[in-house]
Amino acid sequence: MSSSPPFSTRRTFLRNVGAGTGALGVLGTGSLLLPSVSLAVCEPPGTPGTARPWRADCRPIRARRPASTLTAAEIQKLKDAYQAMRDLATSDPGDPRGFTHQANIHCWFCSVSPTPVHGNWQFFAWHRAYLYFHERILGKLINDSEFRLPYWDWEISTHRKLPGAYTTPDNNTNPLWNGTRSMSPTDELPDEDVNEDVMEPVYSAANFGEFGGGAGYSGIPEGSPHGSVHVDVGGGGDMGAFDTAGRDPVFYAHHANVDKIWSDWNKGASSHENPTDPAFLNLNWSFYDENKVWRSIKASQLLNHETQLRYNYGLSRFREILPCILDWIIVRPPWKFDRAVLVEPRFRDQITKALDERRPVRMHINYPQVPLDKSAVYRVYADPKEAEADQGPKSPAFLGVIPIVLNNREKHHPPKPPQVVLNVSRRIAAVLRSPDGIQLAFVERDAKRKGPARAQLLNAKEVYFSYGEAMGE
Ligand code: C2O
Repeated sequence: MSSSPPFSTRRTFLRNVGAGTGALGVLGTGSLLLPSVSLAVCEPPGTPGTARPWRADCRPIRARRPASTLTAAEIQKLKDAYQAMRDLATSDPGDPRGFTHQANIHCWFCSVSPTPVHGNWQFFAWHRAYLYFHERILGKLINDSEFRLPYWDWEISTHRKLPGAYTTPDNNTNPLWNGTRSMSPTDELPDEDVNEDVMEPVYSAANFGEFGGGAGYSGIPEGSPHGSVHVDVGGGGDMGAFDTAGRDPVFYAHHANVDKIWSDWNKGASSHENPTDPAFLNLNWSFYDENKVWRSIKASQLLNHETQLRYNYGLSRFREILPCILDWIIVRPPWKFDRAVLVEPRFRDQITKALDERRPVRMHINYPQVPLDKSAVYRVYADPKEAEADQGPKSPAFLGVIPIVLNNREKHHPPKPPQVVLNVSRRIAAVLRSPDGIQLAFVERDAKRKGPARAQLLNAKEVYFSYGEAMGE
């Protein structure tokens, strides 16, 4: 991961663990030995030496279901399971299955581990493994091998509120509640963060690199929609930064949906394959299982979630309506890092023609230069004046959003800018003909702001377009 931001593992680690780390010793990549006293902080997930390999799961195959469709009895089970997990954290703080420990696994892997699981191809596989062990522990605590995590299918326009179980009641008598959310039970995720313009480039990502990233870069959905939902739910609270996100039970429903999107992308086309590079397949991580046994699991063991991990998902209502795109044709107008993009007539005509033929048109923004010092959602416009007016999707020059989620509020190391691919099919035509060309600008989205926004020109390493050719063309 040569393009990872440099940071001092040892220093950040010590700051998180605090005093009493005399026994600390590095065992190897990602595994650290430390005294059990630190179990209540952001710790590596295990201490007991060599992990035993994960073995075949013999539970029945059961569906993970949308959180909005759970029956009253299923909601009660979900609550009972999280209540048991929370109780365990109090009754036996050293038990790795307790809620605090579970939440801190994410903190460790995202903000302290020398090989962070965000910003690269570990993202989908690691979170799948994390949720899998989490789900098995919850099932064990209520003695139900058929228990599966629900998913929050926020891409469906009627499911944009926090799922009811997580907010009813909206206080600490509900084990699914979290007091640091910035969304109220009646708030909805902004449409522009999770709608079809966001999901289309995700489901039609041409290869795993675009979809799930590579050794040193992230895939499209890790930024938008995944990061936007973190910021929308959390703001300055737990979900708004990766080190604390696991403390909100809705995190696991959010990530079950992210996992479903991976599953749906795989099913979408025969070319939607996972990496075959051994460097990916042999990635492995260790977790405590439901019996407190320290186990290691490899990426290659996670790829078929149905047969290997014993859960599946229903059909994707959204994916079914997408055309089958075979090829993406790239249109690369000249782009200077420190200047506006000027879409010259020959490029403009090519894009306009694609729009006229109703092909999907995307804009790619590589390494967008947005601030990385706080969690926020930035709106991108194809016109600086429109960015200042900040009318959102109502503006003819609005192109989409770029979310940034801090790894850690103490800013031990900055997050990577996401890979941004915007579906601009419905929007770009209006600005394409402007004689001034297209100049990108961005503004932080802030519903409470009074007065004009402070827009800035958006620089990026590279900006280009692509359009899709559907099957049979
Ligand atoms: Cu590891 Cu949504 O974060």
